[in-house]
Amino acid sequence: MTTLTFIGAGNMSTSIIGGLIEQGYQPDHITACDPNSDGLNAIQEKFGIHTATDNSIPSTTCDVIVLAVKPQILKIVTLALRDVIHSRQQAPMIISIAAGISCEHIQQWLETDIAVVRCMPNTPSLVGEGASGLYANPYTSEQQKTIAEQLMSAVGYATWVAEEHLIDAVTAISGSAPAYFFLLMEAMIDAGIKQGLDKESATKLTLQTAMGAATLAKGSDVDVAELRRRITSPGGTTEQAILSYENAGLRTIVEEAMQRCADRSVEMAKEFS
Ligand SMILES: NC(=O)c1ccc[n+]([C@@H]2O[C@H](COP(=O)([O-])OP(=O)(O)OC[C@H]3O[C@@H](n4cnc5c(N)ncnc54)[C@H](OP(=O)(O)O)[C@@H]3O)[C@@H](O)[C@H]2O)c1
Repeated sequence: MTTLTFIGAGNMSTSIIGGLIEQGYQPDHITACDPNSDGLNAIQEKFGIHTATDNSIPSTTCDVIVLAVKPQILKIVTLALRDVIHSRQQAPMIISIAAGISCEHIQQWLETDIAVVRCMPNTPSLVGEGASGLYANPYTSEQQKTIAEQLMSAVGYATWVAEEHLIDAVTAISGSAPAYFFLLMEAMIDAGIKQGLDKESATKLTLQTAMGAATLAKGSDVDVAELRRRITSPGGTTEQAILSYENAGLRTIVEEAMQRCADRSVEMAKEFS
């Protein structure tokens, strides 16, 4: 079984580690590193994995290093691993889940042509319902790609993109997207309350409808546009709501929002590298 070192034991690492363990991954093959020893103790107690406050020690022997710190500090964290990587006979695969930072930058900071997989997950990974896009640089073997895919599939759906710039599109469509749905739910709950429902009922009805719609769409053999048409009878109630959304330019709003999200991912790469 592949040995994994997670650098940064925050939300994303915790959710991926939790998913792996639930899928039967051996805890003693996983090490989480973080300067915060209280957080490490909690994660060790919960999952029975190894922990370290020094990133370099487990990185000397593991098969895969998962870079799971904030993009702002990725450069400094990666530079600090350079000597460890150079001292190894066989280099590990690097998986970076940091938004924005390219494989090329990670290779440059490590000063070696190393296997780097970039991954863009999202927070529903916390409940095993994540969606991740993956890109592998040319130094990544098929076996390493399989390992990366298995890792991310442990917490939801994972798919490969053929070109690295498409990770920015993945950031826009799934990485940041739980927040778009939360915003819509927020607006629906507020509107339901304005129409007289109590907060609890408005919230439960909204969340159940969001989950039901996604479950229905996932299991359906027709696309979402057809599912929408089937419940939009001419002259009916749903039609009025859909017309209101369309007249307000919902499609353009969504397109612009996702473009701004992807553009910010490109900007962040420049800022933090
Ligand atoms: N959350 C999302 O929705 C999401 C989605 C897609 C991708 N991502 C990416 O996933 C990465 C991690 O995000 P997250 O939400 O898990 O962040 P997070 O909860 O803040 O986790 C990062 C962890 O790294 C620790 N850390 C700080 N300096 C470190 C160092 N030198 N060595 C090792 N660990 C260090 C932090 O400790 P302190 O808190 O003490 O600083 C924190 O525990 C980010 O790059 C983000 O872009 C996140």
